[in-house]
Amino acid sequence: MYQDSRGLSYSGTDEEGIAKFEAAMAWNFDYRPNGLEKVDALLEAYPDFVMAWVLKGYSIASEGRFEALGNIPLSFIESSSIAATQRERRHVLALSAYVRGDIKKAVEIWADILNEWPLDLLAFRQSTGVLFWMGERQRLVDTAAKIAPHWTENTPGYGYFIGAFSFALEEVGEYTTAEKYARRAVEINPSDMWAVHSMAHVLEMNARTDEGIVWIEERHGRLPTHNAFVGHIWWHLGLFHLEKGNIDKVLSLFDQYIYPEASSFYLNVQNGASLLKRLEFVGVDVGHRWERLYEGVRESVGDYLFLFTELHVAMVLSRSGNAYQLSHLHSSLSDWSKLRYANETAITQQLVSGIAAYEDNQYGIASENILPQRYNLSVLGGSHAQQDILSQYLINAEYKSGNYNAVTGLMKERVSRRTQWDQKPERFMEMWHQIEAIKDGVSNDVFYQLLRKVH
Ligand SMILES: [Fe+2]
Repeated sequence: MYQDSRGLSYSGTDEEGIAKFEAAMAWNFDYRPNGLEKVDALLEAYPDFVMAWVLKGYSIASEGRFEALGNIPLSFIESSSIAATQRERRHVLALSAYVRGDIKKAVEIWADILNEWPLDLLAFRQSTGVLFWMGERQRLVDTAAKIAPHWTENTPGYGYFIGAFSFALEEVGEYTTAEKYARRAVEINPSDMWAVHSMAHVLEMNARTDEGIVWIEERHGRLPTHNAFVGHIWWHLGLFHLEKGNIDKVLSLFDQYIYPEASSFYLNVQNGASLLKRLEFVGVDVGHRWERLYEGVRESVGDYLFLFTELHVAMVLSRSGNAYQLSHLHSSLSDWSKLRYANETAITQQLVSGIAAYEDNQYGIASENILPQRYNLSVLGGSHAQQDILSQYLINAEYKSGNYNAVTGLMKERVSRRTQWDQKPERFMEMWHQIEAIKDGVSNDVFYQLLRKVH
């Protein structure tokens, strides 16, 4: 049996097939366009290549839609894996759990694979990708840490390991090591978009706004050679410019790169909706752009695998005047024909009610729904930077209700979340005083300024 560059064995292929498989994996990890075509070409040459079928399944699953999961030829993959290796069969089991919508089960199977085959990069990247959408921040770190001693600078694919480790560390606030790993991964492979993205997060959370703009602008020419994932990197650039008050720049990024045309791709929906809402929260008229988003999501309402996307769909439906579909979304989340986890569904439904109430100018009801869930959001997935949109809904709901004590409390909580208490507590105090002034009454412009800059 032939082995890959990390010593893992493969059924149904040969040395050349494995080399192409590794190239297809790297293509996917780099978020290059038309990755599925590469896998299909490989399957044409090697129809019994079990792991290539698995990779095809994982690639389709990464669309984040229940509808797409139906396009995975699962029964065929299951029957072709009967004579496969233990490791391969476990991948097929993970894929099968995923296709049923049971992502928690899939994550457990990848964890098992890594216990035995710590150099299984595909299991590692699948697992960290999905753990992120489960809000399992510490588990992301632990998953990387438990296999870290097996990975050295000389291990093929090392950059893809530390890139994902970097992002895990960033999400638990370990910014120094996160930055070290992100920079090294990008040095090894400048096309490693997950590592580029992780570095953008470090700069965002550390309030290094100017550096953040430079970091992404430096890659301006490279980004269009990647797939739709880079829309999210442009979104990070949009956030940096928003923090600096460069509103025209944010709008032009939105129209050119972030959401240039109607798209149902889950990341585009998240990026587009959350950026438009952030702009509105600081008093910007975004024109007809919500309609573009509605065109994107109208056929996919309630079909997103990760509930964090549905919160953004709720924003789109309420901002584009489609209240009927919004109530349909709310009820469809507890339609158990699709596998949903009860706790996550309940939280999402309450947040959807909060968003709907806010957009219907019922600020008290909005607050009643969002407030009790503000520290439970993480189970819906998404980064700290992305989840901030819900804090902004809450702060604005209290502001519009004239509850200035509540506004200042929530804003201080928000700044605390971004404070490096061991390094820069003085920044918190500076913001604390500025926020405290809201209690005595401030103009909308001052409020917007405070909302725009988290730190
Ligand atoms: Fe991000």
